Amino acid sequence: MESNSSQLAELEGKLSKVTLELTSHKIELHKTRGYLQCILQNARDLIFATDAEGVVISYSKGGEKVLGYPLEEVLGRSIGSFARDPDVFSPVIATCHKDGSSVVHDVAFRHMEGKTVYCNVSLMSLTNREGQRVGTVGICQDITRRKKLQEDLIQLDRLAEIGRIAAGVAHEINNPVAVIKEAAGWVKEVVADAEGLNPDDRKELEESIKKISAQTRRCRNITHKLLGFARESAPTKTEFDVHEVLEDTIDFLKSELKYTTIKVARNFAKGPLSVNSDSRLLEQVFVNIFTNAIHALGEKGAENGRIEIQTHKRNSDVEIKIEDNAGGIPEKDQEKIFELFYTTKPPGKGTGLGLPICRNIVRNLGGDITLESTVDVGTAFNIRIPVS
Ligand SMILES: Nc1ncnc2c1ncn2[C@@H]1O[C@H](COP(=O)(O)OP(=O)(O)OP(=O)(O)O)[C@@H](O)[C@H]1O
Ligand SMILES: [Mg+2]
Repeated sequence: MESNSSQLAELEGKLSKVTLELTSHKIELHKTRGYLQCILQNARDLIFATDAEGVVISYSKGGEKVLGYPLEEVLGRSIGSFARDPDVFSPVIATCHKDGSSVVHDVAFRHMEGKTVYCNVSLMSLTNREGQRVGTVGICQDITRRKKLQEDLIQLDRLAEIGRIAAGVAHEINNPVAVIKEAAGWVKEVVADAEGLNPDDRKELEESIKKISAQTRRCRNITHKLLGFARESAPTKTEFDVHEVLEDTIDFLKSELKYTTIKVARNFAKGPLSVNSDSRLLEQVFVNIFTNAIHALGEKGAENGRIEIQTHKRNSDVEIKIEDNAGGIPEKDQEKIFELFYTTKPPGKGTGLGLPICRNIVRNLGGDITLESTVDVGTAFNIRIPVS
């Protein structure tokens, strides 16, 4: 009897100890869950967990921003299916599984809208108490902006180098061209004064001198453009209305437009569009892009040629869109058009300097130029510059 009650007391003691332990584990579990929830809800990174087959079982709120997909569209899908190239991502996961250790890799994912998102991915193998692998946890930090910036810097460096070389060549050519121009002027005077020349010879000589003058002018034009491109002159900033500069551009190109049927449509934001920037450089950009549109419409020989200018103010930026309905630019050439000397125009008509100069200027003003173009539909250049 006595031994029974002592056993009972012992059992009660054990039970209360176990209950206490359980409560403390519950509290611990609650804290851990709260901690995890806090991370999954608030981290900016994409954090996911998959089962052993790579099927997503957990996905952080930040992931919705990084990939664009809401939670319910990701759960149950293979994480590999979100990679731009699953064949590249799968071996990374396999390495993580094989080594059991953490693996860090840069992976390109496909955003819901189709664009590419670059992430720095840390993968860890998830194991159970028996040490068996039950899944994978990944923390993916969006590095798209950093990557783009790096690419831009490389491109800018390359462009600066080409610019320096081109400027050197331009400088060297400038002097002989000036001498040729002067000599041609001198020959012209000699021919004019020469007596006893037969009329045919005189005509031929005059034609030749005219050609020399025209070609030297062309050379000077190119060398000046190149020198302008390479010169690192700081922009002179003043306060002005972008709409006025656009009107000046159209006015300046009046003579180019006169012999065409091209219609210029203005779709301007209400009121003046004030910015603190360099109006002279901006006008150079508008003239280049406008001239390209006029040429493209001319090549197409379209009757219904149209150039539309739209302006917008967006937060601390001003956007100017110059759109034409000419033949468009094939996708494979769309990055090339910003390269120095890339032109599809016949010799004498294009030097391939217009757009690289434009991009250089706009970037110097703290903005950027992008384009949208569809073959047989048209091309739109978007110029974005900061208000100040
Ligand atoms: N609006 C447009 N529509 C179709 N193609 C275009 C348009 N704008 C530019 N391009 C293409 O981009 C190329 C490069 O343009 P860019 O202004 O740099 O040089 P370019 O016009 O050929 O010569 P430059 O401007 O030096 O006289 C053009 O030759 C043309 O093929
Ligand atoms: Mg051009």
